[in-house]
Amino acid sequence: MSNRLRHLAIIMDGNGRWAKERGLRRTKGHEAGVDTVRRITEYCATHPEIETLTLYAFSTENWKRPKLEVDYLMHLLRKYLKEEQPRYMEHGIRFEVIGDLSPFSDRLREVIEETRQRTRSNRELTQILALNYGGRDEIVRSVRRLLAVGEEPSEQSISAHLDTPYSDVDLLIRTSGEQRLSNFLLWQLSYTELAFTDSYWPDFSVDELRSIIEQFRKRERKFGGI
Ligand code: IPE
Ligand code: IPE
Ligand code: MG
Repeated sequence: MSNRLRHLAIIMDGNGRWAKERGLRRTKGHEAGVDTVRRITEYCATHPEIETLTLYAFSTENWKRPKLEVDYLMHLLRKYLKEEQPRYMEHGIRFEVIGDLSPFSDRLREVIEETRQRTRSNRELTQILALNYGGRDEIVRSVRRLLAVGEEPSEQSISAHLDTPYSDVDLLIRTSGEQRLSNFLLWQLSYTELAFTDSYWPDFSVDELRSIIEQFRKRERKFGGI
């Protein structure tokens, strides 16, 4: 039997190198990356099995980048969400976020909330953007929440208080040739199948995604059994 793919997660990496190779500024790479987000998200919305697509857009460590780049990413995110709302509606995409939104500007948080509310009844796909997200930070925040309500820590209670009360991830893809997790979904990836491609995120195509999914289907997932 081939594996079912319900939850796909992607570490969208390589925007900066894509731009540099073309003699462009890094910000141009992020701009091109937005088109890939749109293409891949809309494909996933038409895919019969994929229910959830989680995209790593900004890590808790990405604040280390030059202020100009961070500011540009925030600007791009706000612009993307505003422009995207009609497309989310057209394709039946529900928008969600994970991560600690508290350091973001009020303006950005308002657009995030507005987009969540507007799209919350859409059912073709849930697109989750990981924003100021860190796997360790998410686990710490979960434990804090359960201490606050006086619950015993267990796998179930920690899972329940994570930002992602969604299904575990079936397949994780990282683009750009790097083979590391960079603090993404540490808890949820315990039995996830991993796939790496050399393509930079702006070049990542639906055809390539299809072929990675084909490979994934043939893998044997054992979950510790035999
Ligand atoms: C990924 O591309 C996008 C974000 C982290 C926001 P990078 O900006 O990390 O691109 P490279 O890795 O420098 O090429
Ligand atoms: C991971 O990419 C974060 C996102 C894709 C948002 P990075 O480019 O920040 O990761 P490192 O620094 O190469 O590990
Ligand atoms: Mg990178």
